[in-house]
Parts: sequence; C-alpha cells; structure tokens
Amino acid sequence: MPVAVPFIDLVAQYQPIKNEISAAVTAVLESQKFILGDGVSEFEEKLASWMGLERGGVVGVSSGTDALLASLMALGVGPGDEVLTTPFSFFATAGVIARLHAKPVFADIDPLSFNLDATKLKDLDAKRFKAVVVVHLFGRLADMSGLRAWADPQGVPIVEDAAQGIGVRDQHGQHCGTQGKVGCFSFFPTKNLGGAGDGGCVVTTDPEFLASLRQIRVHGAVRAYESQIIGGNFRLDAIQAAILQVKLAHLESWGKARLKNARSYDRRLREKGLAEHLQLPELPENEEFVAHQYVVRSDRRDALKAFLTKNQIASAIYYPVPFHLMPCFAGLGHKTGDFPVAELASHEVLALPVFPELGEERLERVVAVISAFYEQGNSRSVND
Ligand SMILES: Cc1ncc(COP(=O)(O)O)c(C=O)c1O
Repeated sequence: MPVAVPFIDLVAQYQPIKNEISAAVTAVLESQKFILGDGVSEFEEKLASWMGLERGGVVGVSSGTDALLASLMALGVGPGDEVLTTPFSFFATAGVIARLHAKPVFADIDPLSFNLDATKLKDLDAKRFKAVVVVHLFGRLADMSGLRAWADPQGVPIVEDAAQGIGVRDQHGQHCGTQGKVGCFSFFPTKNLGGAGDGGCVVTTDPEFLASLRQIRVHGAVRAYESQIIGGNFRLDAIQAAILQVKLAHLESWGKARLKNARSYDRRLREKGLAEHLQLPELPENEEFVAHQYVVRSDRRDALKAFLTKNQIASAIYYPVPFHLMPCFAGLGHKTGDFPVAELASHEVLALPVFPELGEERLERVVAVISAFYEQGNSRSVND
C-alpha cells in the first residue's frame, strides 16, 4: 500500500509534548482561574519578548478574526470609512471591515507573493483610507516598505494580518506583524502556533494603542461594569494561553522543519523538471521564511488535485474565490476582470502538505505523484 499523505497531522505534533500540555492544562484546572489572569499575562510577555518588542506588547484575544476586528475598532473604523485591502485572503480579512459598516476597497496582488502589490497603489490617493489591512499570505512577507512609502506620508495606519506569518522575520530580523501600527495573529489549531481551539493576539509597539486594545478586549471597560468605549468579549482563555506557552518553546524548530520541507520540495520538483509545468513558490533567501503553506500554481490545478486525491495525497485550495466575486460583497459592484491577478491565482493555486512532521518519505511520494501526473496524463493512479 502506498503511504497516504495527510495535509496536516496535529496528532504527530501533540504526541511528543502531551505530558507538558497535560501538566499546563491541569495547573489551570487546579487554579480554576479561566479568565485572563497571570497565565494569560505570562504568555503575552513571553511572546512579546520572543518577538523582540522593546515597546508596546501583546494582547491575547479570542481569535485571529477578533484580533483584526478589535484593531479596526481601536483605530475608530466605522460606517462609511474606506479600508484598503487585498482581494485574495481568508474571509476574515475583508469580513471585519464590512462588519464595522466600513467599505473594503481592493487592490490587486503580486502573482508571485500573492500579497498586495504596492506598485499598483500609485494612482490611489492614500488620504482616502482610514486604514490598510495587509496580509502576509502563506507566511510570505508583504512588501512593507512599498506599502509604508505609500501610506506613512498620509498617516494611514497599516494593520498587518499576520495570521499565517508567526515566526517570519525580515532581512533585519524584525518579526512579521511588528512593522505596521498593529499586527494580528491567529492561534487556530492548524496555524504555525496553534491552540486547542480558537485564539489569537494583537501586537503593537505603541503603548497607548496597547492600552486601548486591552480595554476593547473587555467591553471597553477600565473598571468592572464601567465601559468608556464600545468593546467586546475578545479574551484569550487561560487554558489556551497555557497550551500556547508550551507550544511557543517548539515554534522555532517547527518553523525550521517547515522551511526544510519547502526547500526539499523546491529541489525535488526542479530535479524532476516539474518547474516547467508548475510555478513554484519563491523561497526568499534574505528573509526568515517559515512556509506556513507551500503553494504551487498549475493551469491544470483541478485535474492535478483530483489525481493527488486519487493517490491518497491531501492538498488544499487557498482560496477558490477572491473577495470581490463573493456573493456577500456583491453590493460593492465588482465584476470578473476587476482584479485579474487575484482571479487567476484563485484558479491555479494548490497547497501541498508542508507540516513539520511530514518527513522526506511522504514528501518524495507527493513529488513522485505530481511527476506521474505530468508524465502519464491524469487518468491513472500511479499504482494502477
Ligand atoms: C489570513 C487570515 N486572516 C485571518 C484569519 C482568522 O483567524 P481565526 O480563524 O483565528 O479567526 C485567518 C485564519 O484562518 C487567516 O488565515
């Protein structure tokens, strides 16, 4: 029987650390302190210090989506405001803008990094925008210097959706999510740092902004039952913080394993001549890249995916529909052709398994099956 290859294997991640996790969870249960408190603060401090934050800090929140929502609320985004963002990301990126009755305005992406293309912004007046939400998709850093050159002179704050970028650093060692006004991270279980349920955090180097985020996390209150501004229940659970603190100690080694897998795909796919058929992701040399996803492009994407599935290899499509073509954003009045780079990407992208525990044997099999697809056509299983 050929080895089946899952898209991710969280059981394999859990097994070697399960005693540490059990002890951390038991300590919270013994204390019966589930809401904020020392455990959450300790995790926030550890994360801030790991990210090298000298000012500001980390606020643990209930999810990556809530990290974005709370950040936009803290920036005062509201009805009628325009917020610039990408058309190609997970729904939450644009969803939070619309939930505040503001208007998402899209600009097209770069075909290689899949991130906002700063060169396309020169005809857009930055002054129009209340904020920019930039995504570091698949763990690739967006062009922050290009975006800042456009937004900073007009004082437009940049919100970094770094849900997929924890652990990624630029060429100066500066962490993804610490370069704009605020960075938003997700601890969804399949992320680089994943909890046992939902969770997220907001990171900022601005101490005043940090204080408003802390307030917004607890219904806008500075004292119990006295809300000065509108906030929400955006708290990170103490149990999640305890688990995340255990996992934080392993994040560097998991990141290295992801990168090793990405490099191995790159080498093996090229050796087999598959770079002729697939566009392989750039593996930036001057950044510390973590490979949250390893995403290839193929003009026969759907057939390739079906062939992989037939051969028991999982793969995923992030994302099949760009925001401007989603029914929920029909009111924005967009049509096919408005953002052609994002549209083509949505037809061609395919994410291959790249999780830290994948191992060379399964990775080799993924490459062999892709190779068989292009050599033999797509009708037969390699083991038929
Ligand atoms: C780019 C991006 N933004 C936002 C989110 C939302 O995070 P969460 O699922 O923790 O709410 C995710 C995660 O799914 C994401 O990938």
